[in-house]
Amino acid sequence: MISIEHAVSMLQQGKLIAIPTETVYGLAGDASNLSAVQAIYTLKQRPTENPLIIHLPHIEAIGEWAIEIPPSAYQLAEIFWPGPLTLILKRHPSVLKTITGNQETVALRIPNHPLTLELLKLFGGGLVAPSANRYGQLSPTCAEHVRHAFQTQVEILDGGPCEHGIESTIISLIGEPTLLRHGSIPTRTIEDVLNRKVILTPDRNIKAPGAADAHYAPSKPLYIIQTDALVEVAAELSQSQKIDVLSLQAFLKTQTSDFSTWKKMPSDPKQYTQQLYATLHQLDKTDSDCILVELPPKTEAWLAVHDRLQRASRPLP
Ligand code: TXA
Ligand code: MG
Repeated sequence: MISIEHAVSMLQQGKLIAIPTETVYGLAGDASNLSAVQAIYTLKQRPTENPLIIHLPHIEAIGEWAIEIPPSAYQLAEIFWPGPLTLILKRHPSVLKTITGNQETVALRIPNHPLTLELLKLFGGGLVAPSANRYGQLSPTCAEHVRHAFQTQVEILDGGPCEHGIESTIISLIGEPTLLRHGSIPTRTIEDVLNRKVILTPDRNIKAPGAADAHYAPSKPLYIIQTDALVEVAAELSQSQKIDVLSLQAFLKTQTSDFSTWKKMPSDPKQYTQQLYATLHQLDKTDSDCILVELPPKTEAWLAVHDRLQRASRPLP
């Protein structure tokens, strides 16, 4: 466990550290230091066209990183920052193009975690911080997950388990407000603040690579199964492989009932979301061959969960 002062000094020297946020842990570096930014892509094994979010110490800093800022940006920032909302704005000419994947836009947010807010205030500048996992893998929601991904390669500012457990909602304010990634702030809440519709289908010209690729996946196959097919599929698959089940129901009796783990998840979407990645990290370590996930309800409160499960899943064999 490192102190905030030690973390600040490391960042000032251009080194990377893992930081806690209310969403997931981030792999942070000084946004004004080219080699620190490059080191993030290298350590994460992330394609350089996949841009990074800049984390700010206070709202007034928006103007140092973006230009032509619409009033809607301040409207949203004042309500949701610090918090799990990332805004896409026009890039300030001084922002390193390595951060933005060569695009003319920039992603900004103020995270809501007491340690990281203090760190940002002491540091004073912007911190680029993608989720602290290797590219394509599950995001970390506690320090142990970061250690598992990077061992001793990064020091961690340990702020305990993340409150939300899923990445920030991303809204582009280039042109019409557009949702680029579902997160813990529902689109409707954002529409209520803006008093206008948020476009759900991203413009093909706006690149949010994380919104397109397979992502956020455990290393073993994950299959999404409808509730009424769960018992049948579980029984069939368990004849040839060891399976873990992640369900909203208490244990369902099947003919074989040969599970490594039957994990009952909370039926409240917020609690489910907070535990999802941690549970998948845990199941990824068992000796089972695959993970069956029961399809959650199709209501708005579950949209972000559906989105992440879709990306993590494969079609049934
Ligand atoms: O909750 C979060 O947002 C966490 C914490 C650490 O803040 N960070 C996070 O970062 O999830 P990352 O790098 O794993 O995901 C950032 C997403 C990517 O999908 C990326 O494509 C998108 O933000 N993004 C970044 N800059 C962008 C830009 N200029 N235009 C469009 N999308 C952008
Ligand atoms: Mg990520």
